[in-house]
Amino acid sequence: MIIRSADFIISAVEPKSFPKLELPEFAFIGRSNVGKSSLINMLSGKKLLAKISNKPGKTRTLNFFCINGAWNIVDMPGYGYAKTSKTEREKFSRSINSYLRVRQSLIWLFILVDSRHKPLAQDIEFVEHIAKMEIPFVLVFTKIDKLGKIELEQNIANYREKLLQMFEELPPMFFISSVTRTGKEGILNFMDEQAAQYASAIRKLAK
Ligand code: GTP
Ligand code: MG
Repeated sequence: MIIRSADFIISAVEPKSFPKLELPEFAFIGRSNVGKSSLINMLSGKKLLAKISNKPGKTRTLNFFCINGAWNIVDMPGYGYAKTSKTEREKFSRSINSYLRVRQSLIWLFILVDSRHKPLAQDIEFVEHIAKMEIPFVLVFTKIDKLGKIELEQNIANYREKLLQMFEELPPMFFISSVTRTGKEGILNFMDEQAAQYASAIRKLAK
């Protein structure tokens, strides 16, 4: 799939400022510093589209981007960064939760986890929360350039085991590096396909 355009639309913290419900949407969420904004830049081919930092807590609002005029990606603040003040964290989680509750055009939530870690309680709790809300989600394992093949396979196996204790089926999973661009095509093709399916279902409903 080819990216013809990737544009910033708006930065928002509450539903009244979200873009109109026109296009199918994918939102990226995960702990601070996991690589959400970097992945958006990698996918879009624009290094400076989303702001990134080596300090956790960089993204502080919901940032909407439009790809090929056909679908949106939303970059979100991270959850679980202890050094962000409590009020700030509450603000983040309020905007994230209001987004998750009202956003009918959200077709898949991309939950990013750091491939270097064993399943973390915070991530598992978040996955459970999303499953309870019945929001379709995929898991993205980030920063795979930072570990060897055997270690990566072990960590993925741990995750699979954990998930299979929670669910009957595994969610779609992707393994990426925003540095080497591994996994780029797989995610883009998935998004493009899912967005096209959604758009065609909506067209049929409108008939
Ligand atoms: P917040 O906005 O603070 O929630 O963080 P984020 O999840 O958006 O992370 P961000 O994209 O800002 O990246 C955090 C740090 O991880 C930066 O220093 C990135 O350069 C680095 N990083 C992101 N992805 C990768 C990756 O695939 N490999 C490596 N080696 N580093 C990465
Ligand atoms: Mg960010």
